[in-house]
Amino acid sequence: MMYLRKIFIAISFFFFCSALSAQTLFKEKYRPQYHFTPDKNWTNDPNGLIYYNGEYHLFFQHNPFGNQWGHMSWGHAVSSDLIRWKELAVAIPEEGNVGIFSGSAVMDPFFTSGFGKEKGKAPMVAIYTADVPNSNQSQHIAYSLDSGRTFTKFSGNPVLDLGQKDFRDPKVFWHQPTQKWVMSVMLPLEKKVQFYSSKTLKAWNLMSSFGPAGDTSGIWECPDLFRVPVDGAPGKHKWVFMMSPSPYMQYFIGEFDGTKFINESNPSRIFRPDYGPDYYAAVTYNNLPASFNPVSIGWVNNWNYAGAVPAGQWRGTMSIPRTLSVRKIGNDWILLQNPADELYTLQKKDTIITSDKLIKQEDASFMAEWEWKTSTGSKEVSLGDKDLMIRFNPETREISVDRSLSKGFKNDAYQRLSVFKSVFPGELSEKLRFRLFVDESIVELFVGNGELVFTSQVFSEKTLSTLQFQGSAEPFPVRIKDLGTYRD
Ligand code: FRU
Repeated sequence: MMYLRKIFIAISFFFFCSALSAQTLFKEKYRPQYHFTPDKNWTNDPNGLIYYNGEYHLFFQHNPFGNQWGHMSWGHAVSSDLIRWKELAVAIPEEGNVGIFSGSAVMDPFFTSGFGKEKGKAPMVAIYTADVPNSNQSQHIAYSLDSGRTFTKFSGNPVLDLGQKDFRDPKVFWHQPTQKWVMSVMLPLEKKVQFYSSKTLKAWNLMSSFGPAGDTSGIWECPDLFRVPVDGAPGKHKWVFMMSPSPYMQYFIGEFDGTKFINESNPSRIFRPDYGPDYYAAVTYNNLPASFNPVSIGWVNNWNYAGAVPAGQWRGTMSIPRTLSVRKIGNDWILLQNPADELYTLQKKDTIITSDKLIKQEDASFMAEWEWKTSTGSKEVSLGDKDLMIRFNPETREISVDRSLSKGFKNDAYQRLSVFKSVFPGELSEKLRFRLFVDESIVELFVGNGELVFTSQVFSEKTLSTLQFQGSAEPFPVRIKDLGTYRD
């Protein structure tokens, strides 16, 4: 009898917890609403970004068992518009103590790998790093014949092994002109990327390497080599090599001749896709139709405090999708990043504010867009309870984000990294555009035509739902778009 009672109590407790969890999931303090977060547990880098059959896949570094880094596996979510995500079962789980680290995915419609040929359906092939803790990292492949829902590991793994402890994050694409697969993969401690080629995805030949260059202060991770359109020059393209010198990111722009990357960026300067504290491991989508612009997604975090940020059942957030192009400004090629169009076409409330410098929203999930004149003095706008101050000095062309007054996360590393600035590249025109995406604890600021982006986590003790323009700087009209929640 006693035994039955215990079972009854256990079952009731289970149902009580699930009900509680359903009630609170996605309503937690600081939980982003239109940025992807896993329902539960930890995420870091986006992995295997690939578009196939109308579906955007977002695989991600995931601990399926807790909200701290560990048991690395590939989580999986899909979306038809890059905003509304549906989380699916873990796609590639940790195997024994071997972690499934970051990597990419390709479609193999011509069966170069020989996988799945008999079924006549293009296999999706994942290329990832198998991590044997403190001993070896090598590149492995696995294929899926059901749109990434389940993967079968190649029996001949590893496909690339240098016998090194640090050798990771393979990003593979099909290079049409030379009819071969190209892999960028990092030697993190040497601050070097290597480029390999393959006809089969199973055997790889070293072609060239690049680095150290630019920011060499941290280890190098998560390489990506991709082709982007030149803004305003239809039919023209450049190659971008983008990567993560921990804990930030940088890019180089130039050419790729099928064998090596030829850098045209000034090697004595550092160019970043994001000048804020929290943008890492961003990579671009593979297999997009030719008419689409390249799109990237990054992890909104910083390894200096990633494990400690206030979260809940989940920890870790992906950025909004960004479309990419480049433009030469003065002597420099600059990466332009803009919020994917899908964010603008959502059927949500749009408000135009024409005179009120204190803008109060119902919740902290919105986009604000305004322009500041460049002929008048310094400007400032604050978000929440002065949780984030955004400043623009037209004279020096400097833009900064400052979260030093925010009190919701008391952590030394986080507080040390509170002010971030950069100078707008090139001449200013009469007005400069600002687009601010606010999502509970995530703030992404796009300046101009995407020449500068600042991504920050901001943990307000109250809420980020108010925007207060300071002083005489007129930002009007300010357009506010509610963004709300997009979880299926
Ligand atoms: C980057 C990174 C990668 C590695 C993964 C492990 O954030 O350190 O180099 O593959 O995370 O989770």
